[in-house]
Amino acid sequence: MFAHVEPFAGDPILALVEVFNADDRPHKVNLSIGIYFDEQGHIPVMRSVQQAEARVVAKGGPKPYLPIEGAANFRSAVQRLLFGAGHRVLRDRRVATIQSVGSSGGLKVGADFIKRWFPQAEVWVSDPTWDNHRSMFEGAGIQVNNYPYYDADGGGVRFADMLEALQRIPKGSVVLLHACCHNPTGVDLSRTQWDQLIPLLKERALLPYLDLAYQGFGDGIDEDAYAVRALADAGASFFVANSFSKSMSVYGERCGALSVVCPDARQAEHVLGQMKFTVRRNYSSPPIHGGQIVAHVLDDADLRPMWEAELAAMRERILVMRKALHGVISAKVPGRNFDYFLTQRGMFSYTGLSALQVDRLREQYAVYLVRSGRICVAGLNSGNVERTAQAMAEVLAA
Ligand code: LMR
Repeated sequence: MFAHVEPFAGDPILALVEVFNADDRPHKVNLSIGIYFDEQGHIPVMRSVQQAEARVVAKGGPKPYLPIEGAANFRSAVQRLLFGAGHRVLRDRRVATIQSVGSSGGLKVGADFIKRWFPQAEVWVSDPTWDNHRSMFEGAGIQVNNYPYYDADGGGVRFADMLEALQRIPKGSVVLLHACCHNPTGVDLSRTQWDQLIPLLKERALLPYLDLAYQGFGDGIDEDAYAVRALADAGASFFVANSFSKSMSVYGERCGALSVVCPDARQAEHVLGQMKFTVRRNYSSPPIHGGQIVAHVLDDADLRPMWEAELAAMRERILVMRKALHGVISAKVPGRNFDYFLTQRGMFSYTGLSALQVDRLREQYAVYLVRSGRICVAGLNSGNVERTAQAMAEVLAA
C-alpha cells in the first residue's frame, strides 16, 4: 500500500537536534535550533510563566473546546502587545486575530487564506530566510520567490537591491518580512529602512506578511514591534504571525497568533470568519493551556513586569555571549573582521562558514550549527564559548 511513499529527507533544523541528542560526547554544543538556553545550558523556566501556570492550574475547571479563533483574553492581549494598547487599528476593530498553534500554525493558516483569496499571488521571501518559510507556503500551493536581502560581503542588508526587486514584482504579491531578529542572518532592517520600505509596499499594493517570532530578543518588546506599528500607522493592510515560544520559553505549548490588519471593521470580520473556516478544516480549534498562561503573563500587573525583566535578562545575556565570541575569535583569527557578531540582533548569527566547515565542526568538535552557517548564539554560555570560538577558528584556518 505504501511502497510508493518516499522517505523524508529530514528537516534541516529539527533533524540536527535529533543527531545532537544522540551524540554522547559530553562537551557537545548545540547552536543549531532557535531555542534560548541559559548559562547552565538549560531551557529556562521563567518565573513569571511558572507563576502564571500555577494560577491557571489552581483555577482548574472544565476544558471545553475553545472557540475556533481561540480564547478572547489571549487574542486581545496579543493585539495590545503587538500594536500597543489603544492603537487606532484596535479602536477601529480593524484587526482580525486568531490564536494559533505556534506562529508556524499562524503562518500556515495565513498561507491557506492567501491561496484561497489571492489565488494568483506569489510569495516573496528574503534571501535567505527561515528554512521552513518556503516549505510552508509551497505546501499551501503558493509559488515562492526570493528578494535580495543579505549582503554576504558587507554583512548588512542589500537594501537598494531589495527595493529595486520589490519595485518589479507583480502588484498584489505577498512579501514576507522578518519584523525583527532576522532568521537566519541576525541582520535587521533599520527604522530608516522600514520607513523607506513601507511607502513602497503601499504604493505597489504589495501585501506584507510579517513574521515576529523573536519579539523582545532584539532591542526590546516595544522596539521589536516597530515594523508592526509603523505599518499600522501607515494605514497598510498586512499579516503578522507572532510567537511566544521563545519570549516566554514555552516552545512545546505551541502558543502563537495570526493577526490581519484590514482596511475596515467589516473586512476584518470577514477575514476572521474565513480564517476560522481554515482552522476548522485543519485542527478545529487551538488548545487551552498555553494560551491561558500567556494571557495571564501579559495581563497581570505583577507578572507582566516580571516577564519583561526576565526577557530583558535573556536578551542581555545573548549580547554578552556575542561580545565573548567576538573577543575570543577575533584574537584567534587576526586580520579577519568579526564585527557582525556584535551588530547582528536576536538569537542568530550568520557566520559565513560553509556547509563543509559546519560538518567539520560537528564531526570533529561536536559543535552543532545549521548547514547554512547559522549559529544560535543563545546556545553559548561562559562554559562553552571559548571552546566553540577555538573550534570555529581552527575550522576557518584549515
Ligand atoms: C529555528 O529557526 O531554529 C526555530 O525557529 C525553530 C524551528 O522551528 O525551526
